[in-house]
Amino acid sequence: MSRDTFDPTIYNKSDNQPISAVLEKELTRRGILKRGGAVAAFSALAGFGLTGCNDNDSDDVATPAEPTPPVEQPLTLGFESIAGSKIDAVAIPAGYSAFVLAPWGTPLNANANPWKDDGTNTAEDQLNAVGMHHDGMHFFPLGEGTTEGILCINHEYIDSSALHPEGPTENDGVRPTEEARKEINAHGVSVIHIRLEDGIWDVVPNSEYNRRFTSGTEMDVAGPIADSDKNLLITKYTEEKGNAKIARGTNNNCGNGHTPWGTYLTCEENWPGYFVRKDDKENWTAEQVRLGIDDEETRYLWETVPASEENETGEFARFNITPSGADATEDYRNEANGHGYIVEIDPYTPTSRAVKRTALGRFRHEDCSFGNVAEGKPVVFYSGHDGRFEYIYKFESKELWDPADASPSDRLATGAKYMNEGTLYVARFSTEGVGQWIALTPDATTTKGERLGDVEGFATVAEILLNTPGAADLLGATPMDRPEWTAVDPKTGAVYVTLTNNTRRDNEDDDPDNDTNVANPRANNRFGHIIRWTEGEEPTSFDWEFFLFGSPAAGDSETNKSGLDSLNELASPDGLAFDERGILWVQTDNGASEVKDQTNDQMLAIVPSELKMAEDGSPVVNSTNQDQLKRFFVGPNGCEVTGLAFNNDDTSFFVNIQHPGNWPFSNNAAEITPEGTEVRPRAATVVIMKEDGGAIGV
Ligand code: FEO
Ligand code: CA
Ligand code: CA
Repeated sequence: MSRDTFDPTIYNKSDNQPISAVLEKELTRRGILKRGGAVAAFSALAGFGLTGCNDNDSDDVATPAEPTPPVEQPLTLGFESIAGSKIDAVAIPAGYSAFVLAPWGTPLNANANPWKDDGTNTAEDQLNAVGMHHDGMHFFPLGEGTTEGILCINHEYIDSSALHPEGPTENDGVRPTEEARKEINAHGVSVIHIRLEDGIWDVVPNSEYNRRFTSGTEMDVAGPIADSDKNLLITKYTEEKGNAKIARGTNNNCGNGHTPWGTYLTCEENWPGYFVRKDDKENWTAEQVRLGIDDEETRYLWETVPASEENETGEFARFNITPSGADATEDYRNEANGHGYIVEIDPYTPTSRAVKRTALGRFRHEDCSFGNVAEGKPVVFYSGHDGRFEYIYKFESKELWDPADASPSDRLATGAKYMNEGTLYVARFSTEGVGQWIALTPDATTTKGERLGDVEGFATVAEILLNTPGAADLLGATPMDRPEWTAVDPKTGAVYVTLTNNTRRDNEDDDPDNDTNVANPRANNRFGHIIRWTEGEEPTSFDWEFFLFGSPAAGDSETNKSGLDSLNELASPDGLAFDERGILWVQTDNGASEVKDQTNDQMLAIVPSELKMAEDGSPVVNSTNQDQLKRFFVGPNGCEVTGLAFNNDDTSFFVNIQHPGNWPFSNNAAEITPEGTEVRPRAATVVIMKEDGGAIGV
């Protein structure tokens, strides 16, 4: 976290140390973590001291000796790569511990009963407890941020068989109110105050910071779609509320992001399946078809709960967006228009509302990461659309970065400043190494030579954003192998994206749209790959290269292009995050049996900033350097490893385990569930610490 971005010490409520102590601590911390950063910090301090304390020009003052710069030590991983693992427990390197934190159902306040292992907790309990299926996550420091903070956790979806005592029920296709409500409340985001005490991180019960956003929470909608005079968000509910810039709930929150001003971003991924339209598809809007609203039933059948006095606000009816009234004020035809966004949350202000930032586009957002900020330059966000043959997007703010905004008094106002107005671009990988960002504006030119704004349905920025991928289709964007997370190297600014897999890419039939292309070169891409790029001088250009190809160790040379072995073989890279030291952490969500037979999903580490693409065109990670890529963590059977957060001195890592099979057995995440024992599975955060208390990974 650079000084140009959010500085957590501003929010230090716990102690007021003298500035000298703070500086000394900061120098020590940065000296350890930044490898050489101490010199720069010391020089700045010395300069400040001379200016402040010695304002005469006397020659008598001894000239301080030039400090000798220390030899820059390359950052290296200080652990041995661990073997693959297939057990009902997590696996970690020697010298580390792993504990369970905030599993599904953990009460956040006094309105929730303790979690019960028979599934009988109520919808009201669930509204006041940690949600299910943990995914993207970020740690927001309190004080120094080493022993206390606020963890924001996405809950992507639910395991209904674990959520209810005997699984989900229905009667003649109708779901019970209480069950549907409990499912809605298990979705969304948990904001959780956590603290390290006696060596264990735990939830601070009843903290004012603790709160839930669910699939039912009312939120604000901002940016071009909210501001459009096309009334794109009007529903029976907004009419009753007298506010057409609101939407209810956030669904399928997968990856995440955060901002340089200290807010959380939660990303709405596979939300179209939560809505259904049942009339003839000829009546549908182009974006409903393109984005894939369901035409039979929703994912969990919430729309089937009958209307009653207690849910007359359309609590469940709104998931059916089939027009039924005279106009949009009488039904929920526009309900889904309030979904598919990057949603901003201020974790430090318990009374604040979530805000959907429509300027960043509407699609199946996997995650959202910001480019390194610089004074006077736009703020940039990257987000991939997770779907086969979907695209990668970049948003560039209209307002230019002011470092004073790193510590604003009103974080959501700062979000409005940088995220409500700007330009959304989509990526075209033109030739090897060369890429272009194509602006999604009415004045863009389609591949047929038309002005985009003259094409039906794309006249205004708001309409273009509402059907973001439909507009990108017309502009020649490159269809990718399911873009998942992006991550930005804090040292170099290079951007990485995981392309998890795409088994439908082929060159074998007469459909050219699914052929391999320059950036997605593998037919039947079962194992996925990672690309990295560097922004060009112009906002419309970038340089790119292949970073890593997933593969089983036993893959032939065409498959195993990165030379992976049994200690780092991986498939379907998905979660991706840099820590502030420049270590890149790669998480997997693998279904390919060649790797699955060897190991459960996992997290690996690499320091990529010094690694270059080989001259022979091999990817950056190749047979000459694959020992740089080390397996650090393996999840329990049945799970996906997803979501990663760090405390401020990197002594505690938070990793999410989603949909485990038969885990956790105890608070020790590495304790194997005994043979013959069946536990009600609980998604959970795992806290990894070094037994000697040191920084992780080095
Ligand atoms: Fe929810 Fe694309 O992973
Ligand atoms: Ca083809
Ligand atoms: Ca994911």
